[in-house]
Amino acid sequence: MIKDDHPVSLLEVRGLIKSFGSARALQGVTLDVRPGEVHCVLGQNGAGKSTLIKTLSGAHQPDEGDILWNGDKVTIDHPIAALELGIATMYQELDVVEGLSIAENIFLGHELDKGGVLQRREANKRTRALMDRLGHPQLSPTREVGTLSPANQQIVSMARALSHDIKLMIMDEPSAVLDTEEVDNLFRVVEELTKEGIAVIYISHRLEEIERIGDRITVLKDGKSVASSIAVSDTPTRELISLMTGRDVENVFPPAPGVPDDAPVVLEVKDLALGSHFSDVSLSIRAGEVVGIAGLVGSGRSEIMETIAGHRKATAGTVSVKGTKLRPGSVRDAVDAEMGLAPEERKSQGLILDEPIYRNATLASFARFARGPLLNEAAERDATAEQMRALELRPAEPNRITRTLSGGNQQKIMLARWLIHGTEVLLLDEPTRGVDVGARVEIYTLIRKLAAAGTAILVVSSEIDEVLGLADRVLVLADGRVLDEKPTSEIDEHGVLDLVMKGSAA
Ligand SMILES: Nc1ncnc2c1ncn2[C@@H]1O[C@H](COP(=O)(O)OP(=O)(O)O)[C@@H](O)[C@H]1O
Ligand SMILES: [Mg+2]
Repeated sequence: MIKDDHPVSLLEVRGLIKSFGSARALQGVTLDVRPGEVHCVLGQNGAGKSTLIKTLSGAHQPDEGDILWNGDKVTIDHPIAALELGIATMYQELDVVEGLSIAENIFLGHELDKGGVLQRREANKRTRALMDRLGHPQLSPTREVGTLSPANQQIVSMARALSHDIKLMIMDEPSAVLDTEEVDNLFRVVEELTKEGIAVIYISHRLEEIERIGDRITVLKDGKSVASSIAVSDTPTRELISLMTGRDVENVFPPAPGVPDDAPVVLEVKDLALGSHFSDVSLSIRAGEVVGIAGLVGSGRSEIMETIAGHRKATAGTVSVKGTKLRPGSVRDAVDAEMGLAPEERKSQGLILDEPIYRNATLASFARFARGPLLNEAAERDATAEQMRALELRPAEPNRITRTLSGGNQQKIMLARWLIHGTEVLLLDEPTRGVDVGARVEIYTLIRKLAAAGTAILVVSSEIDEVLGLADRVLVLADGRVLDEKPTSEIDEHGVLDLVMKGSAA
């Protein structure tokens, strides 16, 4: 063996090509996966991610290219061939069989299946062990799979993969059907697998997930790997967005034109405190300025936003909009001062998902659409449709139920609410969480548009690169205190991280 600083690859893919008739799904994909790593495959819809993993799991045959397993060329011509190598796959389209029990889904066609007769006691026993391992002991082996939520069906699919002796687990967009807590559970399982030396190929288009659990990334665009097996820690968000969308890195974030010194201060926060959450937070934002807050999760960022907007009652300090002080804890005052908050948990706090889009878009503007004791719904719908067209939210169908929109489009509806209402101050908490990459760039543009119209904007994001790209100035926060404040042109991601780490160690 030659001396090598890198561990040997478990899986190597070289120059993979696959067409479906005239559709060229893969046009040259290269990557390598090491034991025990989380290798993320990123790419926009249609980039070829699912096709790639289907060629690795034996569901598709590549037209050209090589697959090497522990250094040896292999042909994976059937799902069983993949399993025999030690490759298990959780498909994007959940492939559980409704009408069968959890144990049957896991062990039919498996070694416990003796010619169609399942060794039930053993299967149930092993199913219980798998459910424990996956953090779902409440799922009984005899439960019928059709009665489970998509998230729990996914657990069954994962259990089936783990019932084999595997070296590589492939997960195709597993988080698409999961809520935050379920994603945490999934990541815990992924961590355990990698500790046992099992490699995971994790497919997603959510950058925040990749930054949380990924070791290396391969980015696909139009069927090609435009970046192959690069380290997550060396790759800034804007570079990933640029790779995925094909935009220049410089154009991922719209240019900040700069704020004239004589632009009026719109939002002034002085010595604001909220019990043990944060204290001594002071900031001022001029018309047209975007200020970002960077800091670790739990450093009090969301609480600051909520306190400024009156959703929480400050224990000290003041908030003023255009010189008028707001009463602490008064949402009414904040709304009257034309301050809008787009909260982090859009789904639970911001949007009423089962209502039509127009209801959400006009929620802050009841007075404008009131007609006596009723609402002028036609006017609400017209105003909403106009904004939807402006935000390139197609089809501009205001009657559609909000739940049916993608995360990015739900965020646009949130922003439309403040465009319709008119807003002096906009507080954006994690504006791109769960948003597809393409839609992210549109949301960045929209935020800059709102600023150009004179709105003072405060934005919180756990992606430092996003804060730096979007904002004119950044406040660095640790342990509920502002550590420093700098124009974004004078600090980079490492500078912010250094401050955060020093601050939270102090
Ligand atoms: N079975 C198929 N028949 C025809 N075209 C397909 C098939 N599977 C995928 N494609 C096409 O290949 C491209 C890549 O698709 P896919 O691998 O599903 O992308 P992703 O998972 O990244 O969204 C798309 O243009 C898709 O329409
Ligand atoms: Mg896919």
